[in-house]
Amino acid sequence: MKLDNKCTSLFQKILQVDQILSEFRLKKQELQEVMRRMQNEMERGLRLETHEDASVKMLPTYVRSTPEGSEVGDFLALDLGGTNFRVMLVKVGEDEERGWKVETKHQMYSIPEDAMTGTAEMLFDYIAECISDFLDKHKMKHKKLPLGFTFSFPVRHEDIDKGILLNWTKGFKASGAEGNNVVGLLRDAIKRRGDFEMDVVAMVNDTVATMISCYYEDRSCEVGMIVGTGCNACYMEEMRTVELVEGEEGRMCVNTEWGAFGDTGELEDFRLEYDRVVDETSINPGQQLYEKIISGKYMGELVRLVLLKLVNENLLFGGEASDILKMRGSFETKFVSQIESDTGDRKQIYNILTTIGLMPTELECDIVRLACESVSTRAAHMCGAGLAGVINHMRERRKQEMLKITVGVDGSVYKLHPSFQHKFQKAVRDLTPHCDITFIQSEEGSGRGAALISAVACKMACMLNQ
Ligand code: GLC
Repeated sequence: MKLDNKCTSLFQKILQVDQILSEFRLKKQELQEVMRRMQNEMERGLRLETHEDASVKMLPTYVRSTPEGSEVGDFLALDLGGTNFRVMLVKVGEDEERGWKVETKHQMYSIPEDAMTGTAEMLFDYIAECISDFLDKHKMKHKKLPLGFTFSFPVRHEDIDKGILLNWTKGFKASGAEGNNVVGLLRDAIKRRGDFEMDVVAMVNDTVATMISCYYEDRSCEVGMIVGTGCNACYMEEMRTVELVEGEEGRMCVNTEWGAFGDTGELEDFRLEYDRVVDETSINPGQQLYEKIISGKYMGELVRLVLLKLVNENLLFGGEASDILKMRGSFETKFVSQIESDTGDRKQIYNILTTIGLMPTELECDIVRLACESVSTRAAHMCGAGLAGVINHMRERRKQEMLKITVGVDGSVYKLHPSFQHKFQKAVRDLTPHCDITFIQSEEGSGRGAALISAVACKMACMLNQ
């Protein structure tokens, strides 16, 4: 009798856990609805008359489809947008078989919190200091190199080397940058130092850099996507529908900035209590709501909030959370990947949970894993619905029976999580009949892409000057 009671209560407990986690499961119809709304916002972002109010900004990048060929030589590439800042030296050379080859040397610099959230001058002075250090190390201070800047935030471009920062995302907040020309801020900081010179020739988003670097591997690559600290995608759009830029011929790469999807209410019926808390306690409440469901900056925190909910319902850890688990940000996104990579003996899960002050039973390890899977699977599916929206939009625009396309992808969540990739790709394919999609991962795409586009920009500048 006693045992029976125990079994019943265990069974009830599991049912209750399942009920809480079931909110994260999205049906195919729901994903189709997300996709439809994404396509709708994309249309609104592209049109002049609705652009202002659209959440998905569809920003023209001035990266065009017409191949001009490229210069060869040394280029410097900067990559700012995640938790680190990278400086790279890229040698673009000719290769008999593939027409080009690149070699890189790079160095990573961590960005101090006060540079991220202080003033724009502080941030760009720090960047200039890192470049100076890199040039010293490679004994290149005397050279005035062409520079490509991967700047992974929403920028309204006027040309490939000119654009204003619309708003910061992903925890950056340096004051005095929003509304200003980013390349100007960089040039001013280099001038202030006065110990080296650079010729800034191109600024691109990381999605664009990723697409460009993959394009050199596969000429069908016309989409770039990042699922890392942030989440975003770009693609090649017909010039005649990029209403913000004059001209009809060819294609231009559009940075969708889809992370802001949902900011005008399009995701309200999908957002859960955990999403609301993550948003309200973030540095940019009300902004980047789609990104907050998917990307690495928020995934661990979402799991932490789910675990606290299970604790509060007395379904986990005897109803008692540890002091660490109660702290915002204490459950890192990498834990989600590590927990889901556990081979089944629960060792990895146990180790992680003990480092945050918990003593889990085997069943509790399994419940934590289920919570991680719920959050990351929803992220993969939501992200898949977004990309399916982009790809269906492209097929409709191009009026093709069958669209054959390659997508270049980068980002820590995509690359390091054990099943995100697979679930994401399946969702995209389920939602895009009549499309033949290849996914490729970019290696060092952010830096290489910036250098490659700079090489193209240099060639164009040379042609114009002739
Ligand atoms: C954020 C930025 C976007 C970037 C993405 C991935 O969404 O706004 O520009 O591409 O993160 O880094």
